[in-house]
Amino acid sequence: ISLKEYNTFGIDVKAKHFVSVSSLDQLKTVFSSEAFPKKFILGGGSNMLLTKDIDALVVHLNLKGKQILSKTETEAFVESQAGENWHDFVLWTLDNNFGGLENLSLIPGNVGTSPIQNIGAYGVELKDAFYSCKALNLETLEVETFSNLQCEFDYRNSIFKQHAKGKYIIISVIFKLTTKNHLLHTNYGAITSELESMSIEQPTIQDISKAVIAIRESKLPNPKKIGNSGSFFKNPIISKDAFLKLQNNFPNAPHYVVSDTEIKVPAGWLIEHAGFKGKTFNNYGVHKKQALVLVSYGGAKGEDILKLAQLIQKTIYRLFEIKIETEVNII
Ligand code: EPU
Repeated sequence: ISLKEYNTFGIDVKAKHFVSVSSLDQLKTVFSSEAFPKKFILGGGSNMLLTKDIDALVVHLNLKGKQILSKTETEAFVESQAGENWHDFVLWTLDNNFGGLENLSLIPGNVGTSPIQNIGAYGVELKDAFYSCKALNLETLEVETFSNLQCEFDYRNSIFKQHAKGKYIIISVIFKLTTKNHLLHTNYGAITSELESMSIEQPTIQDISKAVIAIRESKLPNPKKIGNSGSFFKNPIISKDAFLKLQNNFPNAPHYVVSDTEIKVPAGWLIEHAGFKGKTFNNYGVHKKQALVLVSYGGAKGEDILKLAQLIQKTIYRLFEIKIETEVNII
């Protein structure tokens, strides 16, 4: 079967075998069977670049359901199964007037993959509202709970990308949200100016969500129309010394201070200054409005996009002596 409909880049590779699971029991059955020793887990397909056919049983996680576990005057605990679409889930929390996820509106993908890379945008990261998750241990086939601390969240990183990688499947996530006195994050430049242009002075969480949606729609390609996986690279974190060197040559280089010794530089700026922004090769290229996003205009091969990514990495290293790492998983 073709996986074209199962990855947001729209890459047309084939899975040798394919099964979609919609319950924990089915998932356990699939993993206790010896019939297909090689398995490949597929969630929302929003953070991967497929470069070849998958010689394995592709297990599509389709666990659905969301519920309010408990609610008080100030906070609510909600649980979503892994296969729920992330943005639909965020909208549902906002319909209930639960605060915490509004800045993370319109991020592609599913709830179950959101903790793996600690998704983040506009001054908020998943870890800020994450309470715990349940994950199937693939060795014991027992369900284990991971608290926020146990997930070891960091910028676009968690235990599920480090030593727990490949050992667990996240089946549901519990969030701790606010029911009043919402903590609003409106300091990110783009949000401040979007709310101003909407003439909103006292934003609600729903207003912030609308502002984020407007910003994302103006900058980021809609994967339903143009294939992409969001930011293709992570923003590199470099030493202060390395940054001072960069600043010497480029006094206007944008940056965020991470710690006394580390500075984060937007990869989009580096890619733009290396001349790649908006570059198009046949049916793929670099997005015109946000250089951090690689796009497929239809029918592009994963290998071609990978080659472009490697060319960008090499050029940036040559020009700026900065290594940028991919944020999407290359398969
Ligand atoms: N910039 C450029 N040219 C570009 C793009 C960016 O010069 O083509 C510079 C600008 O100076 C801008 C700065 O980079 O001020 C930051 O740009 P932006 O606010 O668009 O954010 P980003 O650092 O490029 C990160 C996340 C996005 C997230 C935004 C907003 C990563 C890898 N990406 O991008 O996340 O939406 O911040 O918070 O951290 C994603 O992970 O898929 C994603 C879209």
